[in-house]
Amino acid sequence: MVKMLQCLVVLVSLVVSVHGLDNGLALTPPMGWMSWERFRCNIDCKNQPNDCIGEKLFMDMADRMVEDGFKDAGYEYVNIDDCWASKERDSAGKLQADPDRFPSGIKKLADYVHSRGLKLGIYNDFGTKTCGGYPGSLGHLEVDAKTFAEWGVDMLKMDGCYADVKTMPQGYPNMTKALNATGRPILFSCSWPDYERASKIQPDYKLIAKNCNIWRNYIDIQDSWDSVLKIIDYYAQEQDTLAAVSAPGSFNDPDMLIIGDFSLSVEQAKAQMAMWSILAAPMLMSNDLRTISPEFREILLNKEVIQINQDPSGKMGKRVMQETGIEVWSKTTADSKLAIVFLSRRTDGIPTNYSIILRDAGATSNSAYEFIDLFTWKSVGKFGKRDTMKVAINPNGVRMLLGTPAKTAA
Ligand code: GLA
Repeated sequence: MVKMLQCLVVLVSLVVSVHGLDNGLALTPPMGWMSWERFRCNIDCKNQPNDCIGEKLFMDMADRMVEDGFKDAGYEYVNIDDCWASKERDSAGKLQADPDRFPSGIKKLADYVHSRGLKLGIYNDFGTKTCGGYPGSLGHLEVDAKTFAEWGVDMLKMDGCYADVKTMPQGYPNMTKALNATGRPILFSCSWPDYERASKIQPDYKLIAKNCNIWRNYIDIQDSWDSVLKIIDYYAQEQDTLAAVSAPGSFNDPDMLIIGDFSLSVEQAKAQMAMWSILAAPMLMSNDLRTISPEFREILLNKEVIQINQDPSGKMGKRVMQETGIEVWSKTTADSKLAIVFLSRRTDGIPTNYSIILRDAGATSNSAYEFIDLFTWKSVGKFGKRDTMKVAINPNGVRMLLGTPAKTAA
């Protein structure tokens, strides 16, 4: 009897600890490309055929992802954001792509993206209209889920403009059900908690994690360092709540990577890459892969930094120290390695020399850790948890170190 009870307890705790949708997707943070931050709602394909929201843009990005090493590094989803649809549904009530900008239709585009070994993502809105004013899905959830599945879509970002926020905890799960009912695994990205936060409603993250693979919880990223820092601030402020729900199948989404766009310096780009990595954030680039310069491409293709992001534990790193414009973020990986990000917000022209006792940076192992720098791939030395580590961090920059517990005791 006691044995049976024990078994029951184990079974129940297993069921309870399973996060995420029942679609087997996003076991590690999804990686890919998304149109919004860089290409917005540019629908002027007549005058700007290369930069407008039309099928060419997504085919171009799929090509670049395959041919320039992004696919090999793990970037997989090509995501269409807002402004792809026709302003009217078709006579059967289905969403349809704008015929001038997507003359071949979304199914053909999905076929193309699939033929390149990638996946296609699309965008809709829970309310009456998308944020850009295109048809919303309110009252059409089932038909829209079916349409996306028929087209061969692999990911859906469901925004929350023009909607009653109070209905989201019921409405978004209805879309989860509708997606599940299609039988096609579609990664589900929800903007629900972001709209709740904006309305001063505390999001129920357990419910969100059960129904969404990833979810936006804070303001849209813009092309600025200031915007990157604001998002990091929010994640630090909410880190206990957010880290608690970060797991295989369910991830917090601090929004797109803006590396290679107009504003971030090389140091700042490394900082965004390192921070999104340690946060276990989706790595969705929004940039022009056709013209990106080599130093930014190299940052986005940093396999070691990507590996920390893709750590099978799904855990989100946390800020463990903040002083004199330097922050220390850390995370222990599934294989007991210690990832540390030193982020500098300083602007005083020279690198800052910073010291920390390794224990305060999250070290728990009794073995000393062998550290390497994930941007220079050089050894940084061996440190036990009681040792003081000294690092120099560039202004508005970052150091990302990975420590592997050594065989010998510290
Ligand atoms: C909202 C979202 C953005 C983007 C736009 C599109 O602002 O948060 O990520 O999808 O809508 O209109």
